[in-house]
Amino acid sequence: MSSRTSLVLGAQWGDEGKGRIVDHRAKNTDVVVRYHGGGNAGHTIKIGETETVLHLLPSGIMRRGMMNLVGPGVVCDPEVLVAELDIARRSGATVYMDRSAPVVLPIHKLLDGAREGAKSGAIGTTKRGIGPTYEDLASRRAMKLGDLTSRRRAKETLTAQGYYEERCALARHYECDPMTLDQTLDWCMRFSDEIVPYLADTRALVAELEHGGARILFEGAQGVLLDVLHGSQPFCTSSSCTAGGASATFGVYAFDRVTGVAKAYMTRVGAGPFPTELLDASGEALREAGREFGSTTGRPRRCGWLDLVALRYACRMGGVTDLVITKLDVLRGFDPLFICTGYIFEGRPLGPFETLTSRVLHEAVPIYTRMPGWFEDITACRSFHDLPTSANDYVRYVEKFVGIKVLGVSVGPEREQFVT
Ligand code: IMP
Repeated sequence: MSSRTSLVLGAQWGDEGKGRIVDHRAKNTDVVVRYHGGGNAGHTIKIGETETVLHLLPSGIMRRGMMNLVGPGVVCDPEVLVAELDIARRSGATVYMDRSAPVVLPIHKLLDGAREGAKSGAIGTTKRGIGPTYEDLASRRAMKLGDLTSRRRAKETLTAQGYYEERCALARHYECDPMTLDQTLDWCMRFSDEIVPYLADTRALVAELEHGGARILFEGAQGVLLDVLHGSQPFCTSSSCTAGGASATFGVYAFDRVTGVAKAYMTRVGAGPFPTELLDASGEALREAGREFGSTTGRPRRCGWLDLVALRYACRMGGVTDLVITKLDVLRGFDPLFICTGYIFEGRPLGPFETLTSRVLHEAVPIYTRMPGWFEDITACRSFHDLPTSANDYVRYVEKFVGIKVLGVSVGPEREQFVT
């Protein structure tokens, strides 16, 4: 199905395999747009024997001739940008980044790391400076990519209302030694020549492209369960991971299609509640079978059974219209399988529309439905008819519970290992 404006988002705690779905869809797309998050993301794309992990630029940069946009809500680390612009040049893709996108400065990463290192309150962030940069955006003083055009402009932004000094004072509070203003300006200017030629007004570009009938694909990062508003605070990220995040950024309010990507099981990196987490040998087995180690930080991911209560909530908050399930092949040999279909919270079953606050997720006792597993290798399956009955039943069960069609299932890491 080809749609004019579509969106792909993560319907769990990130790492659902969105990158390869975007890459797959990019065949029928003219433009891929990243709309939130920053270098905390790790979108892995495998082409032949080569695996590429992208953190900042959209997954469309792997395709020749594809246009890729980075919107004004994406917090941009110039070091990461420069490395990924090189990948885009090599693959022959076009990139434009918004002049208004906030810059992640060394001090942001320093603060992120320092807070994580503090005795209490570690969230398990990626230490990519995401939270502190979004704080500065919300407090209306963040440096923008457009400020990299001149040292004078960059300095004006950093010195307005004592902005940089204030951040340095906070860093010293954490007993860190921040870069001086001049060092930070030198650092910024190192990237100027590489970045400035790619700057544009991406909101105008999206509007023009939409007007001209281009097929636009918005690429979500992280997952709805990590959304700054709908995720379990403080164990979440700092941006809007829903379709609404793209709407608020680009003024595109009607998508032809919003695809939620969910793994056939759950994973989470960092701290925070995880009702179906498996702390036993099955969890370890899932981690090994699914190679569940963070693509950005290398951290082992926490693993657990598929949680349909959380998935249903994520689909509702995210605006999901269809689902793709990834890594179904990983569940081979797990028999029986368990799927969480309800929570007991404060001694009663949680209602289907209740908000999954931190407290709910912390205290929820999952109710499981047991399902038969399968032992067949499904990596060569290409249609739902090829799947063993129990694998097909598993997918249909998800679909029925969540009330949203599953239109595709990935059965291996290669581009073509996909069931439709
Ligand atoms: P931050 O986004 O680096 O501030 O991290 C906040 C939380 O979101 C931590 O639990 C991270 O592990 C998690 N997180 C951020 N980005 C991703 C991602 O792309 N995949 C999975 N988890 C992520």
